[in-house]
Amino acid sequence: VALNGLLLIGAYLLGSIPPGYWAGRLLKGIDIREHGSGSTGATNVLRTVGKVPALVVLLIDVFKGAAAIALIHWFYVFVQAQTFLPSAIEITLWLPWMITLSGMAALLGHSKSVFLGFTGGKSVATSLGVLLAMSWIVGVGTLTVFALVLAMSRIVSLSSIAGAIAVSGFMLLTHQPLPYILFGLLGGLYVILRHRSNIQRLLSGDEPQLGQTVPEAS
Ligand code: G3P
Repeated sequence: VALNGLLLIGAYLLGSIPPGYWAGRLLKGIDIREHGSGSTGATNVLRTVGKVPALVVLLIDVFKGAAAIALIHWFYVFVQAQTFLPSAIEITLWLPWMITLSGMAALLGHSKSVFLGFTGGKSVATSLGVLLAMSWIVGVGTLTVFALVLAMSRIVSLSSIAGAIAVSGFMLLTHQPLPYILFGLLGGLYVILRHRSNIQRLLSGDEPQLGQTVPEAS
């Protein structure tokens, strides 16, 4: 149990790594949290810093999520199997739950980063990384929904919300284990809740399209 706790702290710390914040600081000398939407995610980096940094931030944020899951796989399948010799049944029972908890810890880390005074982004890219590592087919399905909505609306937040809703459907359709379905529900809900200010702007018709500036917060 203590080791599992350490693994979850590791996943939280991975999620907490803030490339979006660094991009703003290093390339523009700004605190990105005071610009645009205030998020440290790639969408706000695109808006306030530039295209290439946004792409790099996006890739790192996706990678963090996948790495949080890889960490659990690595520990359970390789290290624990050699050190503590748990039974195959034990691994089968614990592994999906630990993967789900680790994914949630990474999402939490991204949006409530210990390195940024518990602020951060909206956990969209990081949750894509988690999904791709959890079940690539669910990840690709969710990404497709995101891309379709983005192509039609050119609004990233709306596309993220659509993806967050679709993920549970893909989990069920592809008969994923219960812990993964729960990740789809809770992770999706978490991502939607992180978009509260976007939802307000969407409803009032003020949400900017890709690359546009965000109206000053009222
Ligand atoms: O990935 C976050 C995106 O859905 C919205 O970002 O900066 O427009 O609030 P932003």
